[in-house]
Amino acid sequence: MKILLIGAAGTIGKAVAAELGQRHDIVAAGRKAGESVDIADIASVRAALARLGKLDAIVCAAGHVHFGPLAQMTPELYGIGLKDKLMGQVNLVLAGQEALADGGSFTLTSGVLTDDPIRAGSSASMVNGALEAFARAAAIELPRGLRINVISPTVLTESMAAYGAFFRGHKPVAASDVALAYAKSVEGAQTGQVFKVL
Ligand SMILES: NC(=O)c1ccc[n+]([C@@H]2O[C@H](COP(=O)([O-])OP(=O)(O)OC[C@H]3O[C@@H](n4cnc5c(N)ncnc54)[C@H](OP(=O)(O)O)[C@@H]3O)[C@@H](O)[C@H]2O)c1
Repeated sequence: MKILLIGAAGTIGKAVAAELGQRHDIVAAGRKAGESVDIADIASVRAALARLGKLDAIVCAAGHVHFGPLAQMTPELYGIGLKDKLMGQVNLVLAGQEALADGGSFTLTSGVLTDDPIRAGSSASMVNGALEAFARAAAIELPRGLRINVISPTVLTESMAAYGAFFRGHKPVAASDVALAYAKSVEGAQTGQVFKVL
């Protein structure tokens, strides 16, 4: 398969590239490294897809939200996550349908905070929940046997140095285990699912 992997240079993306790259042709993408694309800008997404031609899968392991105490959140700060992590991934689906071959798939990324909130994580919880609801709905309308799933990992072992203080008491998972869920989504047959990796 020819797989576009957005966020390929990131913590999750590197592990997904290592797993799927054993069997498939990975097109690594991000704003700075690899194929240039900014998911928050649908024109950038369309331009990248036009350059790449037909794809068998589009995988996204990218998307920012702002972490901050509820009392200090503003519409603008929520807007960061809405524009980047939520609409960025929705942009990929909107623009990517034409680029996918029959039976192709989208795999998006949410996270554990949908169901298991932490302090300062209200934007992440909101965006993750919206992504999962979007994917369930999109799955019943996608044409030509196209599939869509969302991967919802808990905090990664590799990210504990950065995020450990926010995730006290959470048991981290290895990036290589998280990558298996992406393989299940891309290489399996399910659609409209949220694969939790806890
Ligand atoms: N790490 C965790 O513990 C964890 C747990 C659960 C969920 N998640 C979610 O998983 C996703 C990836 O997390 P991560 O820790 O792997 O992130 P990361 O290490 O910061 O990597 C993110 C990658 O995405 C690319 N990127 C960022 N914004 C982009 C944009 N607008 N357009 C295109 N590429 C973009 C970055 O490259 P450029 O800077 O070159 O664009 C980078 O390669 C995030 O949505 C995060 O919320 C992470």
